[in-house]
Amino acid sequence: MGLTRSDVMIAVGGGVIGDITGFAASTYMRGIDYIQVPTTLLSMVDSSVGGKTAIDMKDAKNIVGTFYQPKAVFININFLKTLDKKQFSSGLGEILKYAFIEESCGYEQSLFLFEYLTLCCEKMFEKEAMTLMRIIEYCLKLKISIVNQDEKENDLRRVLNLGHTLAHALETKGRYKTYTHGEAVIQGIFFVLDWAHKNDLISYSYCRLSCELLTKYGFHKEDISNKYKPEELVELMKKDKKSLRDKIRFIVPCDKKKVKEVQLTQEETLAMF
Ligand SMILES: NC(=O)c1ccc[n+]([C@@H]2O[C@H](COP(=O)([O-])OP(=O)(O)OC[C@H]3O[C@@H](n4cnc5c(N)ncnc54)[C@H](O)[C@@H]3O)[C@@H](O)[C@H]2O)c1
Repeated sequence: MGLTRSDVMIAVGGGVIGDITGFAASTYMRGIDYIQVPTTLLSMVDSSVGGKTAIDMKDAKNIVGTFYQPKAVFININFLKTLDKKQFSSGLGEILKYAFIEESCGYEQSLFLFEYLTLCCEKMFEKEAMTLMRIIEYCLKLKISIVNQDEKENDLRRVLNLGHTLAHALETKGRYKTYTHGEAVIQGIFFVLDWAHKNDLISYSYCRLSCELLTKYGFHKEDISNKYKPEELVELMKKDKKSLRDKIRFIVPCDKKKVKEVQLTQEETLAMF
């Protein structure tokens, strides 16, 4: 298209368009400006903000990518009117994630996202404007707080990966067709909630309340080990960019609305299933 360094790319679309545009903008002529106009719920609450760009490869997700901040992000919830149920639900997946990490985001005040999401479920499904805007605003406050402290994911930003270790393996296994990103993240959250409770990191009542919140939003825990061979999922987790040389990283709940990182061996990871 003959773009020059003074041109700007505008990503109008969901997370895939946003990530690809950001990646193209960050590498074309060593970087030109770009703007995000997210049109899915997931991209409004998460992917359009924070500057992560990536493309999915056959064998591993997000393995090629850059950190490159957009010059601006414009969010208009009217786009959501045409979004189908499955994609709306995918966005809910990332929103629910924020409810479980709120106290680990370093945000100056309590937003009570967990409680608010428990109360406003029906209004969310009705796509009620004030509720949607409030939830999007809350999620972005938390995300921006994290990115401002740790843009390049050296430490704090990893809390955003709650549910993502299993999620990325599931998405790759399903060739990015079986699960939407949000659905896979929720399965990942069920997985670590269960593990955290079994390992006495969280109480039974918090684990139950958390699962109830996910169920309220239409998500159900799948029997993953019946659907896929755990060994194959662990192989994929080892290829994930979050994994260390011989350890697999998980963000796990460790208290109400708090998470921490654990690093597990391949054998310990297999035992999680
Ligand atoms: N960069 C980040 O920080 C980050 C964070 C989370 C997820 N992601 C990435 O985002 C991607 C998922 O994004 P997504 O959930 O937006 O999916 P998507 O971009 O694939 O969009 C989902 C579908 O919705 C359609 N669509 C988009 N807007 C619409 C609208 N307003 N009305 C009707 N249909 C519409 C799209 O054409 C597409 O078919 C994944 O690849 C994931 O890895 C990136």
